[in-house]
Amino acid sequence: MHLWMKLALTALPVTVQSVLGQHVVDLTGDGWTVSSKALNISVPGHLPSQAHLDLYAANVIDDPYYGLNDFDLRWIPDNNWTYTSHPLGGLSTNSKASWLVFNGLDTFTTIELCGQFVGTTDNQFRQYTFDVTKILNNCKSKPSLSLNFGSAPKIANEIAKNPDSEKWPYGPQQLYEFPNRWYIRKEQSDFGWDWGPAFAPAGPWRDAYLVQFDREDSIYVLNTDLDIFRQGQINHLAPDQGKPWVVNASIDFLGSLPSHPSMHIEIKDVESGKVIKSGALENVHTSGQSITGSITVGADAPNLWWPTGMGKQNLYYATIAINGAQETLASVTKRTGFRTIFLNRLNITDEQLAQGIAPGANWHFEINGQEFYAKGSNFIPPDAFWPRVTEEKMQRLFDAVVAGNQNMLRVWASGAYSPDFIYDIADERGILLWSEFQFSDAMYPVNERFLEDVAAEVSYNVRRVNHHPSLALWAGGNEIESLELPLIQEADPDNYSYWVGQYEQLFISLILPLVYENSRSISYMPSSTNNGYLYVNLSATVPMAERYDNTTDGAYYSDTDHYNYDSSVAFDLSTYPIGRFANEFGFHSMPSLQTWRQAVDEKDLHFNSSTVMLRNHHYPAGGTFTHNYKNSSMGMGEMTMAVEQYYPIPHKENSVANFSAWCHATQIFQADMYKSEIQFYRRGSGMPERQLGSLYWQLEDIWQAPTWAGIEYDGRWKVLHYVARDIYKPVIIAPYWNYTTGDLSIYVTSDLWETARGTVNLTWVDLAGQRIPGNANTPISTQFSIGGLNTTKLFEASISDLDLPDNTNAVLVMSVTAHGRLPNMQGVSAFTHQNTFTPVFSNELALVDPKVEISHDAKTGLFTVEAKNGVSLYTWLDYPAGVVGYFDDNSFTLLPGEKRQVGFTVQKDETGGKWVEGVTVQSIWDQSTN
Ligand SMILES: *[C@@H]1O[C@H](CO)[C@@H](O)[C@H](O)[C@H]1NC(C)=O
Ligand SMILES: *[C@@H]1O[C@H](CO)[C@@H](O)[C@H](O)[C@H]1NC(C)=O
Ligand SMILES: *[C@@H]1O[C@H](CO)[C@@H](O)[C@H](O)[C@H]1NC(C)=O
Ligand SMILES: *[C@@H]1O[C@H](CO)[C@@H](O)[C@H](O)[C@H]1NC(C)=O
Ligand SMILES: *[C@@H]1O[C@H](CO)[C@@H](O)[C@H](O)[C@H]1NC(C)=O
Ligand SMILES: *[C@@H]1O[C@H](CO)[C@@H](O)[C@H](O)[C@H]1NC(C)=O
Repeated sequence: MHLWMKLALTALPVTVQSVLGQHVVDLTGDGWTVSSKALNISVPGHLPSQAHLDLYAANVIDDPYYGLNDFDLRWIPDNNWTYTSHPLGGLSTNSKASWLVFNGLDTFTTIELCGQFVGTTDNQFRQYTFDVTKILNNCKSKPSLSLNFGSAPKIANEIAKNPDSEKWPYGPQQLYEFPNRWYIRKEQSDFGWDWGPAFAPAGPWRDAYLVQFDREDSIYVLNTDLDIFRQGQINHLAPDQGKPWVVNASIDFLGSLPSHPSMHIEIKDVESGKVIKSGALENVHTSGQSITGSITVGADAPNLWWPTGMGKQNLYYATIAINGAQETLASVTKRTGFRTIFLNRLNITDEQLAQGIAPGANWHFEINGQEFYAKGSNFIPPDAFWPRVTEEKMQRLFDAVVAGNQNMLRVWASGAYSPDFIYDIADERGILLWSEFQFSDAMYPVNERFLEDVAAEVSYNVRRVNHHPSLALWAGGNEIESLELPLIQEADPDNYSYWVGQYEQLFISLILPLVYENSRSISYMPSSTNNGYLYVNLSATVPMAERYDNTTDGAYYSDTDHYNYDSSVAFDLSTYPIGRFANEFGFHSMPSLQTWRQAVDEKDLHFNSSTVMLRNHHYPAGGTFTHNYKNSSMGMGEMTMAVEQYYPIPHKENSVANFSAWCHATQIFQADMYKSEIQFYRRGSGMPERQLGSLYWQLEDIWQAPTWAGIEYDGRWKVLHYVARDIYKPVIIAPYWNYTTGDLSIYVTSDLWETARGTVNLTWVDLAGQRIPGNANTPISTQFSIGGLNTTKLFEASISDLDLPDNTNAVLVMSVTAHGRLPNMQGVSAFTHQNTFTPVFSNELALVDPKVEISHDAKTGLFTVEAKNGVSLYTWLDYPAGVVGYFDDNSFTLLPGEKRQVGFTVQKDETGGKWVEGVTVQSIWDQSTN
């Protein structure tokens, strides 16, 4: 839309927008009241918002994230909350038709306008429109809009009680806190998850409008599906990169078109302003309330969009106009990019077999025809309340993703479909978003009403985000094929094929065609972890025939999902899954002391204080009974045992310092374990499994609690995010140690696309930093050359053959420098990486106090860290509360005599620069000393 006019209003401070023949009242803003009749509460409301947020803003409740408020505020989701607008002013007086447009209502709503019933909603993820022409024509006064939101937990329970509702032969299904989430189309983690609270919020969570038409032939754009693909492209096959681009634009609208409308497009380079295509769309046709047309663009006309680290993020504005005989009726501009992204699950070819790749099927992504190593993590809802997720916070998060050497996030299946601004940020930063439909860890109903509702949800969201070049994949849901089907097979083996049929009905027969109808550019798979498919036949009832466990020994087909809370095997490489791609894996850890202080009282700063324990939802309460110490203590115990097995045990006299050291120790274990897995998966790129991706669980936190996150709620990096950044560098060196047999091998792994050459240094020192005589039979320096997306072994020995004087007093420092070309870059770059190995775990090392010190140079802004007396392992720079940002490097090994300069990137500062004075440094030595 363009040519908006802003009018000042007294009744409702909203923006009124107007184009030719059309009048749009923006309903977002402050002009609302939220109330509960039953509780006799009425407070100022907002749109978009949710009841918790407005009650908090009005001081009716304390911060929902504080203490145990997630349990104590259950009375909020137990009640209805009504959002009532102030009387709407500025309405058109001669409109022919009026519509309400809601871009998101969470979730069960009864809508009234001018006291008249308008309609109801029951799906958080859909866009809803209602014709209110008659109601407005008959309204005697300025109309008020009222949205009465029902209690989602109660409604879910009522549906469950209905004898006609589906039941499954096992149960309860994956139950976190509120039951029966699978019956309703609402963010599933609103009912609890093992990393988050269960607030079950309600409210108008997205924007809303009142649209009025003064003319018959006027239209309002609801949604735009812009699909850019290579001519002839089919979602599950590799696109031909030599073919021209097809740009297909399909616009959903309200109102009615004149006869013979036409469409026009202009595609303009965002940076240079150069127009690369301008002209009429061809094959224009309308179907229902959608109009579609397409045009071709020369194969090489646009500059390609690439993910970060692989080239530039070239973006284009595509402006699509819908024209009547005389004039433009509507126009939309979408920022987009030209790229193909393909999930290759095709059979392994003979050519691949000849390269040493094991038979089976591929399972990796290809960008613009090029396979690459996907590095990243899983994105969960960044807040339990979406309306308060700001663009600024998401920019900081995505900057941390880029700084973390990640190129892909999996937008996990039981939060919400991400808003466009998150895809926009990902488009700019070059972060691919593997996106999922919102179904997770449960079987779902397949009755006709449910399927119709899901169909509307799927079409709307596929169309809404399809223009974003960051969109990488659609997956049907999370852990359904790999987790739920086996559970159901165990529970009801006799009827297993019936249940598989239900799974296929929803995730293949219903959703796959909806993706294919609305996107030629994006691959689809039914569930997050799977063994691929046998064939795709689009005219079959079940158009994708899953392979399931119809596999052959020695072949690989799948991506992997791996958790093991027995920390005694955390570094036993033989327990890691071997597959083509790792889409989730991890272990939980505590957040930092600074983050705990945001959410709990000072008296609760103890590892097993009841508040800390009950904020740990691993393992989940398993129902609405809130104080399940038994379950949460199991998760606390897992963290404790992991620390006790491998690291010096904190026992500081000051209890807060001890708590902080414990929190940090759990983070060190977490980071070490992820590093061990990531380097194992990355090495797999050159192994028979041809492993081409690792996305760990999970990128960021939804609140302040023990979780799998690498980034805490306010943006502070845990040890994990630093260590992941380090081990996601393009060229890495890593040790692979079998502590049972004593075998050690060292590999260099590269995810560059071309051969790189370089040197590796292996240096043995004792903990005082003195060289070990004869370098313990280890070659000091080795040259190597390594192919693109490959790995090479540099050294192999048994620790017992190394002549180490004392295994408890030995550190191997491994460093690599490689020269090679980054994808799509001119010229050669140097890549460096350093890693550390000790032949015993840290708790057995004869640690000495390295006397690690830090200073700050106000001129350069850099910190200098130095170990004055010995090897500093896990050197950790810490910063105080009030600032968000990250150090250039952290949790590193520092040898005596070495001065490491470290900068800090400030993302947000509320201390006026004073934070610098609060920066500290410590090492593993300090963990257990006072
Ligand atoms: C609560 O909201 C639901 C959904 O809008 C509605 O069906 C129900 O009638 C409401 N109940 C009350 C008491 O307002
Ligand atoms: C892929 O391999 C399977 C055997 O695992 C075979 O049944 C199928 O026909 C092959 N598909 C194609 C397209 O060659
Ligand atoms: C990796 O490098 C080895 C050794 O050069 C080579 O034999 C192998 O084919 C390469 N693997 C791939 C997938 O290119
Ligand atoms: C197993 O896969 C083979 C092809 O690899 C196919 O011919 C056969 O029908 C499949 N069996 C089942 C039970 O799906
Ligand atoms: C060491 O190797 C043995 C024998 O291959 C294996 O059973 C064990 O799991 C390995 N342990 C580690 C720590 O990798
Ligand atoms: C290896 O050591 C040599 C000699 O100290 C040094 O010049 C070189 O930069 C080192 N290379 C790496 C990769 O650390």
